[in-house]
Amino acid sequence: MELRRFIRDIPDFPKPGIVFKDITPLLLDPAALNFAVESIAGYARPLEVDLVVAAEARGFILGAAVARELGVGFVPARKPGKLPAETVSAEYILEYGVDALEMHADALRDGARVLLHDDLLATGGTARALCELAEGAGAVVAGCAFLVELAFLGGREKLASYDVHTLIAYDTE
Ligand code: PRP
Ligand code: MG
Repeated sequence: MELRRFIRDIPDFPKPGIVFKDITPLLLDPAALNFAVESIAGYARPLEVDLVVAAEARGFILGAAVARELGVGFVPARKPGKLPAETVSAEYILEYGVDALEMHADALRDGARVLLHDDLLATGGTARALCELAEGAGAVVAGCAFLVELAFLGGREKLASYDVHTLIAYDTE
């Protein structure tokens, strides 16, 4: 299935000059949604992961479905201040300023094999924060899976030491 045709370009969102890759048409289509989940699970199955770790908010959508498909648990990495128990935190650089993701400190046991997931790999800052959180907790990052990769932003270089799989890659904006 050509998943690319379910990704919609929205020019000038969230600000002038940016072309937003909108995944909601893919989510709306049952066959495309199923294919995307099964494709990521197909990549991850041989990695024999114990858990899927995904980034709030858009990473949760497919991340939880992939975990269900693999028969493993799901760990949400959330924006600061959202998780109720003790957390660990990793910061990442945005175009303007810094943001962070947090995970429950007891979510990953030492040596757990994890699949990291987010909807989109852009500059790679978010994904790097996921790697830091997982490894900081003693887990092993078995692979990183994304629905969309904006390859022209070079995020993959920030993940050079990891196994990275993306379903749809754009070489130019
Ligand atoms: C978007 C996207 C990825 C991230 C990728 O999330 O969902 O998580 O940006 O960018 P990067 O590779 O440059 O870090 P966003 O922070 O917009 O928030 P959302 O998922 O909550 O909508
Ligand atoms: Mg996101």
